[in-house]
Amino acid sequence: MTAKIVVVGSFNMDLTSYMERLPRLGETIHGRHFQTGPGGKGSNQAIAAARLNADVTFVGRIGTDIFGDSAVAQWGKDGINTRYVLRDAEVPTGVAPIWVEDSTGRNAIVIASGANLKLTPEDVEASAEAVARADVLVTQLEISLDSAAYALKLAKQSGVRTILNPAPAAALPDDIIALADIITPNETELEVLSRLSGSDVESAARMLLKRDDQVIIVTLGEQGAQVVTKTGSVQIPAFPVQAVDTTGAGDCFTGALAVALAEAQPMNEAVRFANAAAALCVTKPGTAASMPTRAEVEALRK
Ligand code: RIB
Repeated sequence: MTAKIVVVGSFNMDLTSYMERLPRLGETIHGRHFQTGPGGKGSNQAIAAARLNADVTFVGRIGTDIFGDSAVAQWGKDGINTRYVLRDAEVPTGVAPIWVEDSTGRNAIVIASGANLKLTPEDVEASAEAVARADVLVTQLEISLDSAAYALKLAKQSGVRTILNPAPAAALPDDIIALADIITPNETELEVLSRLSGSDVESAARMLLKRDDQVIIVTLGEQGAQVVTKTGSVQIPAFPVQAVDTTGAGDCFTGALAVALAEAQPMNEAVRFANAAAALCVTKPGTAASMPTRAEVEALRK
């Protein structure tokens, strides 16, 4: 069975500089390397899912500039359905200057959202037919909250499973949190969402549960992921690898999780599959460029 995934979200052109250490405010330093490539949390999740053999539809807004052209070209290469992608002549495609520290592969990112924030609930409504046919709908917070919430509502109306990747970090109203069947924050996002700082992961995640059947999956980097439900909590360990660039690892995790759940893999096995995908993602530089293939993930998770 081919997993059918709809991703409602963002595209950014990533402008990535690799450096020995991040600069301080007011300081100029030499970088080691610079590259551009497709990014944006929504598009990264869509590409991750497509590389794992899912049938993926992307819903979003990009500009009519060359970065928008690159997005369309990349989605074409990955076989993603772009029927519900809008091109906006009035605003530029989103961009994301990224700094990556060589020794750890960790990053700092600034997003200039451009067209992403012009995606409207009406634009999302236009994709209702594709959403109704999906196994899983995925959204995040680099588009307007209204549009992300509308996507979740639309999917719930059709009985489609929903995954909310609450990134970048934001505090959200309870009624929006309740629309997500699965929420995939990292630790920073969990702290902002739960409004609990310094609390342990399990307690903070449990605070987020608005329904008995919701699942919170907290991504913990090299510690793997913590799966928290109303009745239990389990940590699924990461696959140990040497990280060169962690950009997009959380997106890879969410895209892979969507595929595994759409394929009816049991929850803990789906998280292990997503951990394997994310581990492979951090071993390569770039964002979309580092999303692994199905064969690579299957070989690692054996
Ligand atoms: O999660 C990584 C992504 O965050 C990058 O691709 C960047 O574009 C920002 O959206």
